[in-house]
Amino acid sequence: MNPLPTADAVTASAPAHTADGSSIDVVAERERTTGSTLASHFNAAGAALPSRGVVATVVEHLRLEEAKGGYEAAAERRGDVDAVYASAAGLVGASTNEIALFDSASTGLRVMLDALRPSRGQRIVASSSTYVSHALHLMSLAREQGIDLVIAPYDDRRRVDVAALETLLSDGVPSIVTVAHVPTSSGLVEPAAQIGEVVQRYGGTYILDATQSVGHLSVDVGEIGCDVMVTTGRKFLRAPRGTGFAYVSEALCQRLLPAAPDVRGARWTSSTAWDLDASARRYETWEGAVAARLGLGTALDEAAERGIPETQAWLVDAGTRLRAALADLDGVTVADPEGARSAIVTFVIEGLASADAVVELARRGVRVVSVPATHGQWDLGDRGVPSVVRASPHIYNDAADLAALVDGVEAIATGRSR
Ligand SMILES: Cc1ncc(COP(=O)(O)O)c(C=O)c1O
Repeated sequence: MNPLPTADAVTASAPAHTADGSSIDVVAERERTTGSTLASHFNAAGAALPSRGVVATVVEHLRLEEAKGGYEAAAERRGDVDAVYASAAGLVGASTNEIALFDSASTGLRVMLDALRPSRGQRIVASSSTYVSHALHLMSLAREQGIDLVIAPYDDRRRVDVAALETLLSDGVPSIVTVAHVPTSSGLVEPAAQIGEVVQRYGGTYILDATQSVGHLSVDVGEIGCDVMVTTGRKFLRAPRGTGFAYVSEALCQRLLPAAPDVRGARWTSSTAWDLDASARRYETWEGAVAARLGLGTALDEAAERGIPETQAWLVDAGTRLRAALADLDGVTVADPEGARSAIVTFVIEGLASADAVVELARRGVRVVSVPATHGQWDLGDRGVPSVVRASPHIYNDAADLAALVDGVEAIATGRSR
């Protein structure tokens, strides 16, 4: 029988500094994160805990709206809202006019895919890591408009097989390639830049769904070579719910019309004509939660201040330690593909449905989620895994949190808590 890790063992192995010497001040992060002191929250991949600064920004703006009215308050904070675009651009290596704000990643993906107007004779190549809502949109397009939808070939670690993708694209069929950088259902990290190099070489359009990677891993749109990048606010960025943004390369933006122009990004100039904003704001809608967007700005600034390379090193290290500790437990199987290098950790407890494991862990103050195959048929479904438990730490999770998770899983797996 494997020796079961104890709270002490996990605590002792938890370094204050990551291997490359970069450091995250976990104590300070916990001090500015109220929720981190109330439970062991391991759901950054769902919605991470926001900092007090983010919450204060939102509340302050709601108070301003209460006092002055929504339009008047927005006018007063126009400069701060504009700064959100600059912060988003800075974090992903874009320029300000290449950023559009949305209420979620799914809205961004839908708007941009609709703008690309895929039509019969075109092909969409989608990674097996594609998120459920985006996959359903792609399948609808294939079914209703006769687009050839192909799941990208993958290697033995379930990453897009770049050589096989190249062979596929070399037939010259105009293609949109869409890839989830990190999926919802495992710790996999797709080789985003290698895919970008191949897609560019064959003249395709590359959409990167970076919902699970922005704020978690370094994402530089220039290095990756994507045409469109979409992300959400509430996950590893720790922004309020109802926020998200997209990068649209300037070159693509100039030739890509929004499918449904809106008064936000278009000016109605005569009874039959309109002009579009030159920037990616042409894809936005007028209405939006200004308070939440300002909160997104605070979260982006806090992420940049903390340092993305430092955050990445810390999070990947936490994921690696968690996977190792879970793999040592009897009756527990880590479900991530071999070589997973992110802070999303998935596992299965023998004989226990993932949803039940989530309830049992919650009873112990440990918050994780269950991801069912219905959220990823091309991944979990294809692997024959009905569901996994997903734990996703953030920089406010200290060694005691990690120990609470591992001890809780151990207790459940050995039947002690039932
Ligand atoms: C990889 C991935 N893409 C897209 C989404 C959708 O994000 P949103 O809920 O902000 O639309 C998710 C949500 O979990 C996700 O994990």
